[in-house]
Amino acid sequence: MIVTLVLFLSGALAASPTDHARILELRREIAHHDELYYRKNAPEISDAAYDALKAELRRLEQAYPDFGDRGGGGTEGMGDGGAAGGVAGEKIGDDRAEGFAKRRHGAPMLSLDKAYSDAELSAFYARASGTLGRDEIAWRVEPKFDGIAVSLVYEHGRLARAVTRGDGEEGDDITANVRALCAPPEVLAIEHEAPALIEIRGEIYLGLEEFARLNREREAAGEPVFAHPRNLAAGSVKALDPATNAGRRLSLVCYAWGAVEPASARPASLGDFAGMLRAWGLSVVEGARTGEGWTELRTAVDALRDERARLGFPTDGVVVKLELTADQERLGTGPATPRWAIARKFPAERAATRLVGITWQAGRTGVLTPVAELEPITLDGSRVARATLHNPAEIVALDLRIGDTVWVEKAGEIIPAIVGVDRSRRAANAAPWMPPEVCPACGGQVAAEADEAGGGGRVGLLRCVNDACPAVLARRVEWFASKNGVDITGLGPATIAALVESGKVRGLAELYRLERADLLALPGIGERSADKLLASIAASRSAPWPAVLGGLGLPGVGAGRAEALAKAAPDWAALLSADRAALAAAGLDEGVADAVAEHLAKPAVRVELAALAKFGVGTAKGEATANAGAFAGETVVLTGRLQRWTRTEATRRLEAAGARVDSNLTKRTTLVVAGEDAGAKLASARERGITVIDEAALTERLGEAE
Ligand code: IVH
Repeated sequence: MIVTLVLFLSGALAASPTDHARILELRREIAHHDELYYRKNAPEISDAAYDALKAELRRLEQAYPDFGDRGGGGTEGMGDGGAAGGVAGEKIGDDRAEGFAKRRHGAPMLSLDKAYSDAELSAFYARASGTLGRDEIAWRVEPKFDGIAVSLVYEHGRLARAVTRGDGEEGDDITANVRALCAPPEVLAIEHEAPALIEIRGEIYLGLEEFARLNREREAAGEPVFAHPRNLAAGSVKALDPATNAGRRLSLVCYAWGAVEPASARPASLGDFAGMLRAWGLSVVEGARTGEGWTELRTAVDALRDERARLGFPTDGVVVKLELTADQERLGTGPATPRWAIARKFPAERAATRLVGITWQAGRTGVLTPVAELEPITLDGSRVARATLHNPAEIVALDLRIGDTVWVEKAGEIIPAIVGVDRSRRAANAAPWMPPEVCPACGGQVAAEADEAGGGGRVGLLRCVNDACPAVLARRVEWFASKNGVDITGLGPATIAALVESGKVRGLAELYRLERADLLALPGIGERSADKLLASIAASRSAPWPAVLGGLGLPGVGAGRAEALAKAAPDWAALLSADRAALAAAGLDEGVADAVAEHLAKPAVRVELAALAKFGVGTAKGEATANAGAFAGETVVLTGRLQRWTRTEATRRLEAAGARVDSNLTKRTTLVVAGEDAGAKLASARERGITVIDEAALTERLGEAE
């Protein structure tokens, strides 16, 4: 495996001896990334890195205009549909894929021209104003949603189909997925009479919160996370297996119309159209601004630019449109874009710095993700010293070498990414990057795997296969202790790292063996936090069973599937004896059922699960309900310090077992629990002849003794 990877990488890296070789290499790379982006919805490099490849190719092709065929991966290959400015990278392309019925659009689905500066926007306005013969034109400005364009076709008010843009003339029928993901109205509400036919154009997108949630779930399932909400939206609308979309909620916004029959039913303005959409029960762009004239327009664009960062959905600019249908019709349409609308795109802030190293972050499933270590710079007002590299393929695509001067940008305006290398400043002896042969965290063996999402088995994922790798274990514990799992408050990454490093925690179950002294030995943990942490670890034993299953990190099992699995395997015994058939019967799809069964067969896994079972995790015993009623009728006073629980924790358990807990001795008191260093209350209880028990007796009676 390793050998194959190294061979591949060195092949791809064999430094381009000439610019011609680099041109060929770039064309191949770009064709590969186009395939992943358009056909598989699974790009393996960021948009910014892709743009950088295209820009480099364009520079070289301009320098050698006679060099070879420019088709395929050439810069003209994935044209932008006649975009003004013609900057590479805006991907419109052709999204049609196998497995979907093809549908022709009644009116073509157009792309938009782009303005990259105020001057370009002003030129757009001046052209419109020249054609219309007046200065004051009514306009509308809205966020440009970064999702997947869709055409909803309503015939006599009924949803007939939903179609992707495709090549603009013909797209894929994605009706079933759109119904499942966005639930558009099947029948238009009748407040506003529906025309015989209307194509409603809009965007299917993923809200940023939902994006974060789904990625957390994918991570739980040991699947690679999506780099951008648009990729996830695209993957969802193009899913052939409906199960892919279970638990996903996508949003739909409508902003334009295509064919309308009869033509007289066409709205007179975008404002009217928004009113119709609302009346029909479809969602419209919120926060749009309207006005007249250039000065106001410019202010509105700037205002929306600033607001974009606070919107809960991904955007890649703003769209400026003429408000009145009559004005739109007079301006008409060019070869692929309307003349009455333009997208204003804003450059991400970009800065040059030096790549000082590439480090690796081990994930919960052992996947190693490269991170660029940079000489710190300031970008968009924040300090940036690291940038994501997503995967080894990105290092190869950029041909990154340690010591390179690199350009850094906020990718998708969310996370910093390296978008290019200043090759003119590369040291002559800069060595090509080679993948690590051993896990940088544990020195253990590394396996190279084909990245299924990336397809083609090219540069794969690197995975540490050492079951005992401390970095991987730390991630597993973090996951288990997080809200996705049993939710142990106060157990943060620093504490986990210290516990793993000191050898106190060598598996999930060892959390439950921790003693006060173990925690006190950690840097920065005092008595109070040690006690609190012990209490929350103890309380986590009573976490609901699906949460325990979700926290285990079983392959392919995120929160949604954990619920299903919990029903089929309601306890540890059932889980440990579950075979493929039982897992499949629980509704896990075949691949996941196989992976889980294989995982559960591993001796190390079985030992860990049995230990968790022994500690009562997931058996609701932590609530002290095992001996429900054990303290019924007792009025208890706690005094002195308990080892295992805080007062609050012990009180909760006693109450759950039927006791009433008071803070002071009274005539009602029937029992005193004396911890360490108990003083006056203990003496007084003895004097009054009240029964006194110690912590061991308390745990015993609660049924919590180990
Ligand atoms: S109006 C003739 N409004 O951006 C096209 N488009 O790059 C009229 N888009 O094809 C489109 N947000 O898929 C419009 N608020 C918005 C938009 C928007 C995103 C998309 C749309 C369009 C693409 C052009």
